[in-house]
Amino acid sequence: MKTIIEPFRIKSVEPLTMTTELERESFLKKANYNLFALKSDDVLIDMLTDSGTSAMSTKQWAGIQLGDESYAGSPSFYRFESALKELAPFKHIIPTHQGRAAEKILFSLVGGPGKVIPNNTHFDTTRANVEATTTEALDLVRQEGLDPRLEHPFKGNMDLARLRDLLETRTDDVPLVMLTITNNSGGGQPVSMENIRETKKLCEEFGKPLFLDACRFAENAYFIKLREPGYADKTPKAIVQEIFSYADGMTMSAKKDALVNMGGWLALNDDELAMSARNMLILTEGFPTYGGLSGRDLEAMAVGLEEVVEEDYLNYRIRSTEYLGNALDKLGIPIMKPVGGHAVYIDARAMLPHINPLNYPGQSLAIEMYRVGGIRACEIGTVMFGKQADGKEFPAAMDLVRMAIPRRVYTQSHIDYCIECLDLVNQKKASLTGLNITWEPPMLRHFTAHFNPL
Ligand code: F0G
Repeated sequence: MKTIIEPFRIKSVEPLTMTTELERESFLKKANYNLFALKSDDVLIDMLTDSGTSAMSTKQWAGIQLGDESYAGSPSFYRFESALKELAPFKHIIPTHQGRAAEKILFSLVGGPGKVIPNNTHFDTTRANVEATTTEALDLVRQEGLDPRLEHPFKGNMDLARLRDLLETRTDDVPLVMLTITNNSGGGQPVSMENIRETKKLCEEFGKPLFLDACRFAENAYFIKLREPGYADKTPKAIVQEIFSYADGMTMSAKKDALVNMGGWLALNDDELAMSARNMLILTEGFPTYGGLSGRDLEAMAVGLEEVVEEDYLNYRIRSTEYLGNALDKLGIPIMKPVGGHAVYIDARAMLPHINPLNYPGQSLAIEMYRVGGIRACEIGTVMFGKQADGKEFPAAMDLVRMAIPRRVYTQSHIDYCIECLDLVNQKKASLTGLNITWEPPMLRHFTAHFNPL
C-alpha cells in the first residue's frame, strides 16, 4: 500500500483555533514579527519543534495514573530504569528534567580550560554547556553532511580521519567523544552503524569513552534498517541495542524519542563519574531516583521507550516526514536532502535569492508561512547564528527554515494542508521582502528579537 496511515486512532481531541489571514497579520505585528512571541492558540499547525510536543498513548496516560510519587526508591523509577536497560544496558541511569540538565552535569564534571570535546555536530545546548566550562566544542561531521543538496544515506557520520587526527595531536585534552544520533543541527541526518562502530574503535585505541547524544536514537535505528546493508531483517529494537552496545554513556532528551512531554537522563558505566554526577544531581535536580521529574513522568517514559521501537510506528514516522519533503521537492522548493527523521528543512537562501542573508530570508519565509497558513516553523540561519560574540554580524553558513514534526500529533490531511500552503508561498516568493532587527538582547537573540519588514 502506498498510503501511509497513522498506526493509531484518535480517542481524545484537542481543538485547533482557525484564524484569518487578516487576524494573523495583526498577531505578527503584535509579536514584532518574532514567531516565538506568538500565542500558541493563534497557531494552526505548530512545527516550531518536535521536542516535548508528542502525543502520549492510552498506555502512557494509564502509566501517569500509576506513577508513585515517593521521594526515594519509587517503583516508577525502577520501571523506567528497567525499560531503558532493555535497550541501553548502562550501569548507572540518572534521570534529569530534560536533556540539557544531563549535559550540564556531564560537561561540568569532564570539561575545563584547554580541553576539547569532539562531536559530529553539537546541538546548541550541548555546545553551550561544553563552552560554559571553557572547553572547546568541535564539530567533525563528514564533508557530505555540509552540502544541503547532496544525497547520501548517512550524512550525520563522524569524519573519522579528522577525529583520529585530533586524538593523536591532542590526546590529553579530550575527556570524551560525543556522537549525536540523529544529527539534529545537520538536518536530522542519521549516523550509520559502521560509523558508530568505527568511532568506538578509535575511542578504544586512545582510551576515550564514547557518549551518545541519543535524543532521536529510534529514528536513527530505523534509517540503519532502511539504508545499511545487513540490517533490513533486524528489528528496530535489536538495532537500538547494537547501537548502545558501542557506547560508554549517553545524554538524552526524553522529549523526543521517549515520546513524553518532559524528561531526560544521563546514563553511563563509569562508577566514579556516576557518583560525582549523582552528587551534582542532588544539588541541581533532585534525589537520584527522580532527578527533577515526577514519578508519573518516569512511568510515561518507561512506556514511551517500549512504543518508540515498534516497527509500525517508526515506519509511519520516517515515511510521513519523507512524504512532506518529497511533496515540497516536487513543487520545486529547495530542501535539504535526503529528508531527515524529525523535520524537513527548507533552504530559504536558495528559495529567496533576492533577499540579502543579512535581511534574514529564513525569517521572511517563516513569517510568510504563518501569514498564509498559520504554520509556525523555525528559522535556523542568520537570525540564530549570525551575531558574533564581538558584536559583529555575518551570514550564517545556511539560511534554513525547519518544519519539525511533533510525534503522533498531526494527520496526513494536516500535512497536505501545509503542502498547499507552501505551494501558495512559493508562487508569491518574488514578492517577499527581508527584515531588519530593531531590538535584540545580548545573546540568543532569535528567541526575543524584534523585527521590521523592509
Ligand atoms: N541534543 C539534541 C540533539 C537536541 O535536539 C536537543 C533539543 C537537546 C540535546 C537538548 O534537549 O531540549 O531536552 O534540553 N532539541 C530541541 C529542538 C530543543 O527543537 O531541536 P532538551
